[in-house]
Amino acid sequence: MVGGNSIRSIRGMNDLLPADIPAWQAVEDTIRSVVSHYGYQEIRTPVIEQTELFQRSIGEGTDIVEKEMYTFNDNNGDSLTLRPEATASCVRAGIEHGLLHNQSQRLWYLGPMFRHERPQKGRYRQFHQFGIEALGWPGPDVDAEILYLGSRLWRQLGLNDIVLEINTLGSAQARGRFRSALSEYLASRIDELDTDSRRRLQQNPLRILDSKVARTQEILADAPDLLDFIDDEDCSSFEILQGLLRAAGVEFQVNSRLVRGLDYYTGIVFEWTTDQLGAQNAICAGGRYDGLVEQLGGRSVPAAGFACGLERLIELTRLGGHLAPPVPPDIWVAIVDQAAIASGFGYSEKLRDAGYKVVANCGGGGLKKQMRRADGSGALVALVVGTEELRTQCVSVKPLRTNAPQVSVADGELLAHLKQHFDMEQ
Ligand code: HAM
Repeated sequence: MVGGNSIRSIRGMNDLLPADIPAWQAVEDTIRSVVSHYGYQEIRTPVIEQTELFQRSIGEGTDIVEKEMYTFNDNNGDSLTLRPEATASCVRAGIEHGLLHNQSQRLWYLGPMFRHERPQKGRYRQFHQFGIEALGWPGPDVDAEILYLGSRLWRQLGLNDIVLEINTLGSAQARGRFRSALSEYLASRIDELDTDSRRRLQQNPLRILDSKVARTQEILADAPDLLDFIDDEDCSSFEILQGLLRAAGVEFQVNSRLVRGLDYYTGIVFEWTTDQLGAQNAICAGGRYDGLVEQLGGRSVPAAGFACGLERLIELTRLGGHLAPPVPPDIWVAIVDQAAIASGFGYSEKLRDAGYKVVANCGGGGLKKQMRRADGSGALVALVVGTEELRTQCVSVKPLRTNAPQVSVADGELLAHLKQHFDMEQ
C-alpha cells in the first residue's frame, strides 16, 4: 500500500519556511551586531541537559519544572530534559570549563528552547531565545549595561512602544520577610482567592503577584509592598541603576509587583513588554541571579542576564513593517539542452567564484519555461547557454529588469560585460 496518514509537526513546534527566513536572519544579524558592540561572546550549549540542572536552578515549585519540561529517560536510565531556558546551561558550562575561575564572562546565545505550555499565538512548545549572561559582576553597573544593550537592540530593529519595567527582589532574607508578610495577608483573605493562587499560597506565594485573575489583583492592591522590605544595600543598587538608566535616556517604570517565574533571581529584575501582541506581551525578561553559580556547584559568582523570545520579536518587526525581503539571486543560468549542462554549470561556478549569487536551471524544460523561472526568481539578469552558444563560444545575456535587448557576449568577456552593464553587489 502506498501513502497513509501524513505525519505532521508536533503541536506548538513550528517549521520556519524559506519565506520566513529573511526576517529571522535580519533580526539575528542585528543581534550579532549589537552584542559585538558590547563585547559579548557567543556560547553554544547542548539542547538536552541532565534534568537535575533545571530542578536545582529554575526551582521545583515553578510552573516550568512542575509541568512544562520535556523530560525522558535515555537508554541508560538517566533523566534528561530538553532545555526550557539557557541560563542554567550557561552557568553549568561556565563552571565545567573553568570560565568563571578568576575571570568574568559576557556571554550571549541564541537557540531553541522547549516548554510544554498550552500553545497559542506567541506561545509555543519549541520557541527561540536570544539571551545574554554577564557572569562575575555584582552590578548595578552591568545591570545598566544589559538594559542599555536591550534598548539599543529595540532601536536598531526599529521597534517603539516597548515598555521596560524594573523591580528589585532584595536579598534572600528580605524576600523571606516579605514572603511571610504576604502569606499572612493572603491567608487572611484565602476565601476570596482563585484556586491557582490558593495552591500557590503554600508553595510559592510570590507567584501570586503575577496572577492574571482580576479579583486576585484587587486583593493584592492592599497587600504588603516588596519595596518596603528590602535592605539598604539593595535599595541603593536599585537607585544607582535608575540613575544610570536616566543618564542614558532609557525609559522605565518601577513595578514593585514584578516577580519572575524562575526561582534563581536575586536583586534587580526586569521585563520589557508590548501591548501589540495580545496576551503574550513579554518580549524579554531577566535580572540578577547572584546565588546560582554556587547553587550549581561553583564558587560564589554574581551574575545577571536576560532572554528574549525571538518569535515575539519577529512578529513585532513584522507588525511594524520592518520585514526583510527575500534575497534574490543575481543571475539565473538557463541551460537549453542536455549537451550544454556542463558548460552552463561551468559558467555558474565561475560567476560564483567572482562573487555573484547564481541559480542554474535544473531539471530541463524549454527556454520559455526557464525564462519564466528566471523572471520569478527576482534575478537581475539571465544567461542562456545552448548548442548555439557552445558552437560560437558565446553566452547570451538577457537583462530581466529593463527593456535592454539580449546580447551575445564572448566567453572571455562575460565578467567584464556583467560588471559594466549590471549593478550587482558581489
Ligand atoms: P523567561 O521569562 O522564562 O526567562 O523567558 C524569557 C522570554 O522568552 C519571555 O519574555 C518570552 O519572550 C520568551 N518565551 C518564554 N516562553 C515562551 C514560549 N513558550 N513561547 C514563546 N516565547 C517564550 C528566562 O528564560 C530566563 N532564562 C531569562 C534570563 C536570562 N534571566 C537571566 N538570564
